[in-house]
This record gives sequence, structure tokens and C-alpha cells, in this order.
Amino acid sequence: MTALTMHDPPSAEHDPASVDAPADGLAHVASLTPISIVVPTYRECENLPGLVGRIDALKHERGLDLELLLMDDQSGDGSREWVEQCGHDWVRLVEREGPRGLSPAVLDGMRLAKHPVIVVMDADLSHPPEKVPDMVLALHAGQELVIGSRYVAGGSTDDEWGFFRWLNSFIATKLAAPLTSARDPMAGFFAFRKRELERADYLNPIGYKIGLEVIVKCRLTNVGEVPIHFTDRAHGESKLTLREQLRYLQHLRRLYIYKFGTWSHLAQFMMVGASGVVVNLLVLYALVWMGVNERVAFAGGIAVSLVSNFLLNRRFSFSYARGQSIGKQFIGFAGACSVGMVVQWAVSVLLHDFVSGTPLWLASLGGIAAGTVFNFLTSRYLVFRNAKSPVKP
Ligand code: GDD
Ligand code: MN
Repeated sequence: MTALTMHDPPSAEHDPASVDAPADGLAHVASLTPISIVVPTYRECENLPGLVGRIDALKHERGLDLELLLMDDQSGDGSREWVEQCGHDWVRLVEREGPRGLSPAVLDGMRLAKHPVIVVMDADLSHPPEKVPDMVLALHAGQELVIGSRYVAGGSTDDEWGFFRWLNSFIATKLAAPLTSARDPMAGFFAFRKRELERADYLNPIGYKIGLEVIVKCRLTNVGEVPIHFTDRAHGESKLTLREQLRYLQHLRRLYIYKFGTWSHLAQFMMVGASGVVVNLLVLYALVWMGVNERVAFAGGIAVSLVSNFLLNRRFSFSYARGQSIGKQFIGFAGACSVGMVVQWAVSVLLHDFVSGTPLWLASLGGIAAGTVFNFLTSRYLVFRNAKSPVKP
């Protein structure tokens, strides 16, 4: 296995994720569908002649009816001048104003697109325009969105991809797995019908992964992938910074909330709870190591994890309520947990003092388990108890 592919690809015929190559008889379909190609550009002047030349060939050799929208963020590198003199009326450079960014540029381009099929791709020739007809044919074959994909059989990336870039891409792709079954959901090369955009409440222009945003927000489940070879850029430099990669995590969180609603709050609440267990144990051991009495140390662990759980739940699990008073929220949270905390403390102390040989960590976990069960039971039978005429489950 090379470092370039995420897995040993199965042979092209047997990879169910890969969309079939178009039958020759269907080739005319591409020529019947007018396409708007949307390309975000920032300082890509050197790449424009190659990009426009290859799309022009597509237009003439494959008979595609298309417009090219270059969504430029005031590059000031001669891009505008080059387009003005290139002599193609189907190429339009739109100089954007307002906040610069790949996703907002693509979203503006999608709104301006005149044609029913939209293809989004990069300007740096990483994405081969020659694959556009196959992608459009796959749309006609019934897919809702088609990705030019590195990770289906027949797809590949250039040799220059080092281990860390591969690992980075691997982890980022795995994190998106609950959101879509696509193998290359991070791709900036994809085709879909403009009308699908009406299915999204709102498209958020953060981050680099506008394809993933469209898939999740428009609830597209029938996503096909056409294999491509992803070439490293020949000119200019990548604009993908570490900051953009951190923004991706933020983007993922929002997409999880959009797709899974309450379940994503519960999942975050449980992850915060798990982090609280770690905090609790660390504080407990630190206090004991400093010579603090064990009973006080159990209480210290509980108190510090209460605060860390509160802050993390406020920041993540229930971030929608961050506008409200932090003091009131803390009193409510501590009140809701208070009796459970006393149970937790008492069980920890009992286990430790009266069951000889119980290590601190086991006594602490026993207390956490008892407190959790107690919280569940009081919530189930006191806070959320059945009304007088119970609803049958
Ligand atoms: N208008 C505008 N404004 N365009 C931008 C901006 C911006 O702020 N930042 C980047 N672009 C354009 C670039 O000019 C290029 O055409 C395209 O967006 C992609 O930018 P690159 O800098 O080449 O990104 P990359 O190669 O690291 O990332 C690409 O590959 C990733 C997969 O490896 C993108 O396609 C990503 O979407 C994709 O996930
Ligand atoms: Mn690139």
C-alpha cells in the first residue's frame, strides 16, 4: 500500500462506491445540459490560461454548453486583466466585495449561476475538467450530487503527498463519516442540480468544505463518486492554513447539530460527562498527593468536575443558551446535580473507608456510578414523572 490512498482500492468494476463510466450512447446527454462551472479564485492568475484552455477544449470537443464563473476576491494579480483579454464571452470574472473566503465565494457563484447544473472546482488544476461530462452523466443516471473523488477505485493523488498530509486528510474524512457515506466528502470538486439548494434552510459560508455543507444541509443521500487523479498545484500556493483546519472542527460540530438535533446534544453531554470523570480522578489524586484527607479529596474532585462539566456543557452541549446569565445557569446546574453529588461523595467514602483494599480510583468510579444512577432515577421519577393519565409508551 502506498501512502497515497486511504485503503487498497478494490478493482474498479467491484467498487460499489464508484459510479459507472458513462456508456457511449449517453454521451450526448452532457451536451444537452447547460452547466455553470463555479471556481473560487484568489491569486490564481498563472493558473487561469491552463484552466480556461482545458474547459474550452471540453466545450468544443464534447459539445458542452457552459459558462465559467470565476469568483475572485480582489486578487489584484492580473486575473481580471487576463480574463478581459482572453476573448471568451462564456468566461466571467466576478470581483467580490465583503469578506474574503472560499465558501462565501462559491455560495455567491451558485446564486449567480444561470444554468440548472452547477459544477464547483478549484482553479489550480488539481481537479481535471475532463471529468465534468462523467459527473454530469452520473447526475442524469439518478445521483443527487456527484463528487470528483480521490478515494474510490481508480482515484488517486500526486506522489508529493507526505505522510502527515495523508494522515490529516484521513482523520478529517473519518470525522465526516456520520454525516455522509461519500468516500471523499472533503472534495472541492462536485456537481449537482441548482434546484437542490432550495432544500437547505441556510448555507453557512464558514470553512473550506462547501461540498459537505451542501450534502448535509440539502439532505442529499444519493451521492455518487467519479474517480479522479488529484494533481498538486503547479503554480501559486495553497491557501489552506492551520486556522482553516481548526475551523473545520467547528464546521463539523454545526453539521452534526443540524443533522442529528437532540441526539448531538446528548452525545456532547455524554462526552463532557466522560471528561468530568477524568477531571474528577486527576483532582482526587492531586489532592491526595498533596496530603489532603481522602474524604475532602473526594469532595474536591467532585466540585472541580462539576465546574468543568458546567463550563463545557455551556460552551458545547447547550451552546444555544450561551446568551443567558452564567450565574443563574450555574446555580440551576449545581442544584440539579446537588443530591446526586452528595450520593456520589457518600458512596466513594463508604467504599473507600469500609470496604478494605478498595483503591481510590475504584471508590471514586463507584461513587460516580451511584451518583449517575441516582440522577437518572430522580429525573425519571421526580422531575419527569408521569402525569395523572400516563401516556402509554
Ligand atoms: N475567492 C476566493 N477567496 N477563493 C479562494 C480563497 C478565498 O479566500 N481561498 C482559496 N480560494 C480558492 C483557490 O484560489 C483555489 O481555486 C481553491 O479555492 C482551493 O484553494 P487551495 O488553496 O488550492 O486549497 P487546497 O488545494 O489546499 O484545498 C483543496 O483541496 C482540498 C482537498 O485536498 C480544496 O478543494 C478543498 O475544498 C479540498 O478539501
Ligand atoms: Mn489546491
